[in-house]
Amino acid sequence: MRTFLAPMEGVIDYEMRDILTQRGGYHRCVTEFIRVNNQVLPEKVFLRFSPELNHGGMTSHGIPVYLQLLGGNPKFMGLNAARAQTLEPPGIDINFGCPSKTVTRNEGGSALLKEPARIGDIVTAVRDSVDPKIPVTAKIRLGFSSHDYLDEVADRIVSGGATELCIHARTREDRYKPPAYWSAVRQVADRISIPVIINGEIWSAEDAIQAQKQSGCNDIMLGRGALTCPDIAARIEAEHTGRNYEMISWGETLDIVIRYLNNSSNKHPRFTSNRLKQWLVFLQRHYPQAEALFQRVKRLKNRDEVFEQIGKYQKNPNPQPE
Ligand SMILES: Cc1cc2nc3c(=O)[nH]c(=O)nc-3n(C[C@H](O)[C@H](O)[C@H](O)COP(=O)(O)O)c2cc1C
Repeated sequence: MRTFLAPMEGVIDYEMRDILTQRGGYHRCVTEFIRVNNQVLPEKVFLRFSPELNHGGMTSHGIPVYLQLLGGNPKFMGLNAARAQTLEPPGIDINFGCPSKTVTRNEGGSALLKEPARIGDIVTAVRDSVDPKIPVTAKIRLGFSSHDYLDEVADRIVSGGATELCIHARTREDRYKPPAYWSAVRQVADRISIPVIINGEIWSAEDAIQAQKQSGCNDIMLGRGALTCPDIAARIEAEHTGRNYEMISWGETLDIVIRYLNNSSNKHPRFTSNRLKQWLVFLQRHYPQAEALFQRVKRLKNRDEVFEQIGKYQKNPNPQPE
């Protein structure tokens, strides 16, 4: 069994990948999507999305980071994959799942799930543009509004030469609404010749087992669950191998959050407050203690004020009202 950290635009960046993979359990990460229009992107764009390319495409803990490309034009997807290849990424992933309106309007992401032939052309173009040693993977949803094209999409991805296929077990119309239909992935996982990775609504080690059982997939990908529980992959690994594992406490989790905010190279004035609030919302699902800190920082914008409040919270998480 392998566990992958999902691509999440605006959430799982370089520093987040680094911090989440430190506790073990992950076997691969994927960058936020890199949008490909009708031009060949300069190397600096790929390096911005994956600073890991300066270190062999690995996180500081040696976990490979695949570059994710999103676009609807096979020729330019191929040309950009060839450009990316010069930086020696450990793999290239193609996004056919993004539900965003701006992306689908420009014929990228999940809009392509209605066009299996074009998906096949894109995978073939990317595959043929890079060294056969570089894995090319694809990430899809079950469909756009139905599962009607699922089998054909999967077959085109295989015949295009992809090495693995990740399926987010929902349609584009389902967006992120629970449940995820893990069992709907089985028709593909049992049939095609490449590994299929199950993704969607895996929030715990128990969910991981259920998702594997229902989908017939060995490998899983974690998105929001990874933010809710920064050591979820280590927990899943321990459950899988029968090893004892002590879950990290809220205090240790908060230290991880602080380290992330300190390590970030993003200089936007609101970055610290926005990312902290965003992460605390995820963390509340697992750690109710995150709510009190969220209440303290929810109106703050400035980095210094945010750190001041975190310091106060650490000294006294639940002050009595005066
Ligand atoms: C804020 C956000 C950003 C995302 N960005 C990407 C992306 O850049 N590329 C991609 O393939 N999927 C993206 N996804 C989808 C996730 O990779 C994943 O498929 C989805 O969240 C379901 O998994 P989960 O239930 O474990 O979160 C994003 C999801 C969210 C919530």
